[in-house]
Amino acid sequence: MSYKIKVFIETHGCQMNVSDSEKAATKLASNGFEISHSEDEADVILINTCSIREKASHKVLTRVGEIKQSNPGQFIGVMGCVAQLDGATMFENKKDISIISGTTALERLPDNLSYFLQSKQRVLDIGENNGEDWEADFAYRHSPFVGYVPIIEGCNKFCSYCIVPFSRGRERSRSARSVINEIKDLKSSGVKEVCLIGQNVNSYRPTDDDGLKNILGATPFSKLLRTVVTTDIERIKFTTSFPRDFNEDIVCAIEENESLCNWVHLPVQSGSDSVLQRMRRGYNVSFYKNIVERIRQAKRKISLTTDIIVGFPGESDKDFAETIDLVKFSEFESAYIFKYSDRQGTPSSVLENRVNDSRMTERFLELEAVQKRIQQRKLSECVGNSYSVLVEKRSAKKEDEFTGHTTCHKVVNFKSDSEMLGKIVNINITEAKSNCLVGDLI
Ligand code: SAH
Ligand code: SF4
Ligand code: F3S
Repeated sequence: MSYKIKVFIETHGCQMNVSDSEKAATKLASNGFEISHSEDEADVILINTCSIREKASHKVLTRVGEIKQSNPGQFIGVMGCVAQLDGATMFENKKDISIISGTTALERLPDNLSYFLQSKQRVLDIGENNGEDWEADFAYRHSPFVGYVPIIEGCNKFCSYCIVPFSRGRERSRSARSVINEIKDLKSSGVKEVCLIGQNVNSYRPTDDDGLKNILGATPFSKLLRTVVTTDIERIKFTTSFPRDFNEDIVCAIEENESLCNWVHLPVQSGSDSVLQRMRRGYNVSFYKNIVERIRQAKRKISLTTDIIVGFPGESDKDFAETIDLVKFSEFESAYIFKYSDRQGTPSSVLENRVNDSRMTERFLELEAVQKRIQQRKLSECVGNSYSVLVEKRSAKKEDEFTGHTTCHKVVNFKSDSEMLGKIVNINITEAKSNCLVGDLI
């Protein structure tokens, strides 16, 4: 048998990148490459990059330097959002990178890599996307039990601080039939939970809605949710939701269907109307609060998580105090907090009235402390109750410790054995840590 070139894919960034790495591995494997799990043994390292905050390119170049130092013989490729945005400059300046493959070039990755390996001519491909390919083989999935299912690519929102519409292009929705077929395949391969993913899943709008359940007045996304339920997959999650497009029917669908998990990730970004306006988010605080109220009134308790940016240009003490108020009002189960980061080419990068870094750090820490208290209280309330948990993997530290998520997306650690992997079990919660729960198998 001839020697197969071994490729190791290193993934940074959001679920969309995890999913792209799965697709890249699938394509490479079907074109004669071997997907390696060992960085050191690989012939080629592909770095799948994220560009959401500044210094992204710089970090990639540092990583390239590290790889060259530890394994000088390896070839390096850069794919993902940084490749798409800064690929041309990187290609010019960093000869150690053999291949640049943008988000638009995924389907050409195997050809580009083969071409390089044969000719040793470096390849830069950030060109046209010739139609989406949504498929990933089960063998190259990040988890045997949780499947990421992309339903929409790109973003049309153009929030004033965000690079994603540039790195990922305009919205393209996947056909319902293709989504449903993938979920059926995943289910028959042993997957227990699917997460429908996209930068804004709520604006799912397929050109071909063949296969969608027809519900009068419902948005395509909530029709999709109700259609996915018919596959009988045990658990269905979805992320990310966008407040402006979050239709009440999503809550109704969750109320009506046990398999639709009781978790909504709804990034608010700020609690100040004037900041939200300058962020071009398209909603105000009272709009967001109405959604929070509706979620709170749901028949089944739904957990709500969010993302927040502190230090957006022009954010005053008053604006920030309003964010604190909104966080207290909303009682998020968890929140990702980010310091505002300038992205070249975005409208907010030329706004005046910058918040300086030390002020930004102060605000970050203050907000984090407020959120921690809320979170701690919420996690403590779980102690003594039992939750359904999907046994996802062994903990990195201890042999007999396993970890998984509740339907409301909280992390639970517990003692078990490998026979339980992939099963949905009941766990009695005995302890609340700062970011997770600890419990016993019932
Ligand atoms: N599509 C999702 C978010 C995608 S990016 C949404 O609209 O909510 C994930 C998070 O990164 C965002 O929610 C935001 O909080 C953060 N983020 C994006 N751009 C940023 C920037 N320039 N500076 C700081 N944080 C940013
Ligand atoms: Fe970025 Fe806004 Fe699109 Fe989210 S909705 S990806 S923050 S532009
Ligand atoms: Fe990062 Fe690109 Fe996702 S910028 S957050 S990897 S879409």
